Amino acid sequence: MVYMCFYKQKRKNAETNERENAQVKEAKMMTKVQLQEHEMPTAWYNLAADLPHPVPPPLGGDGKPIGPDQLAAVFPMNLIEQEMSSERWIDIPQEVLAILYRWRPSPLHRAYGLEKALKTPARIYYKNEGVSAAGSHKPNTAVPQAYYNKVAGIEKLTTETGAGQWGSALSFACSQFGLGCKIYMVKSSYDHKPYRKHLMQTWGGVCVASPSTQTKAGRDILAAHPDSPGSLGIAISEAVEEAVSDPSGKTKYALGSVLNHVMLHQTIIGLETKKQLAIFGEKKVDQIIACAGGGSNFAGLSFPFLADKMAGADIEIIPVEPTSCPSLTKGKYCYDLGDVAGMTPYLPMYTLGHSFMPHAMHAGGLRYHGMSPLVSQALREGLLNPSSVPQLECFKAAVLFARSEGLVVAPETSHAVAQVIREAEKAREEGKEKVIIFGLSGHGMLDLQGYADYFAGLLQDYEYPEEEVKAAIAALPGFSTIAAIH
Ligand SMILES: Cc1ncc(COP(=O)(O)O)c(C=O)c1O
Repeated sequence: MVYMCFYKQKRKNAETNERENAQVKEAKMMTKVQLQEHEMPTAWYNLAADLPHPVPPPLGGDGKPIGPDQLAAVFPMNLIEQEMSSERWIDIPQEVLAILYRWRPSPLHRAYGLEKALKTPARIYYKNEGVSAAGSHKPNTAVPQAYYNKVAGIEKLTTETGAGQWGSALSFACSQFGLGCKIYMVKSSYDHKPYRKHLMQTWGGVCVASPSTQTKAGRDILAAHPDSPGSLGIAISEAVEEAVSDPSGKTKYALGSVLNHVMLHQTIIGLETKKQLAIFGEKKVDQIIACAGGGSNFAGLSFPFLADKMAGADIEIIPVEPTSCPSLTKGKYCYDLGDVAGMTPYLPMYTLGHSFMPHAMHAGGLRYHGMSPLVSQALREGLLNPSSVPQLECFKAAVLFARSEGLVVAPETSHAVAQVIREAEKAREEGKEKVIIFGLSGHGMLDLQGYADYFAGLLQDYEYPEEEVKAAIAALPGFSTIAAIH
């Protein structure tokens, strides 16, 4: 009798193992995992709760820490509370979830085509944020920002945009909550990327080229440099100026990256990815890769994995930036302004100096002088391995991705793709099976001019010189220096 039970149990175990192996095999063959709506995370993850050292506070022009009241002219108090929160989890309001459900949860794909093209033993996955209404990860924060402003009684939002992704995302979000939206678009992009402008207009946003004559900051720049191509730093100055000078107080400013609450809203990307990887049967991740401009899509994908890393997991986390705008790889960690005209507080971040004038390149969303204070702090803590990639390698990578996987990625995203290819080739040379996850932050269907210029041989590589960083940092006030933590 005992023997019979033993054999029965043994057979049962063997059947279970067989079934589990079949499931794992099936999972290994899956091309994508799409979660159900009810599986979407209902709270955002706040990295500030878990970092070993706190992020230094923002400072005013006098070098003294600023509190919530001093930010109230620019942002509504509910978002300021999130900005300063150290709660680990913050609930996503139902009204926000209801809009995010239209395209979320976003799919996690296995890049079989790219793996085959590279003959790599690495397993490559990408989280596709190009499926949103505006075509990138930006609506993940545009929607909650519009919502919190609406409930605070605000009627209009102002903002800046580089290549137009953030401006179109905010126009979309404002249209959902009945808010007005005014966008200052960096002039070089305004002239070269007409379709994003039309998209903003379609959603009801008003888009003007920056520098403009509509603000003092814009007029001052135009007086000194009539042909200025603009920069994100200048456009931010204009958008903040318009918001703070509305006497009714019903206009506020919204930022598409850099700030803590923006990083927070984007963490839905990484939280979903973790659930999807489990369905793919992956138990261990080796590398997380995403492009970094102000840091938001990188933070969104990586922060939930950073929590694992801080708890002991062996994961390499790689933000990727252009060699022409290398804030993490060549910048200095100090207090710097978020804009050119000094309308913002001083933020603790890796920066090239706020006077940075970007070199012409197609990844307009990566041409910002500073990096999110939370991402910067993670680098200071030794948790990140940043990399920089030149533009030609990025377009070459994007073309290989399009020909192997089918999707045409945004020029910003191509930086992540280029780094993935470097890592997958290394895995091939070392004969190592590793799991690489990357953030596909947006599609490039409105950025085809960049591809056209690449095919026509009109693009060049550019390395931002170290001396320029030194000179810009030397011009910052004495209080900008921050002591090392280690
Ligand atoms: C598609 C895409 N990816 C990445 C970025 C970079 O921004 P962030 O570093 O905030 O993700 C942008 C910015 O406009 C973008 O449009």
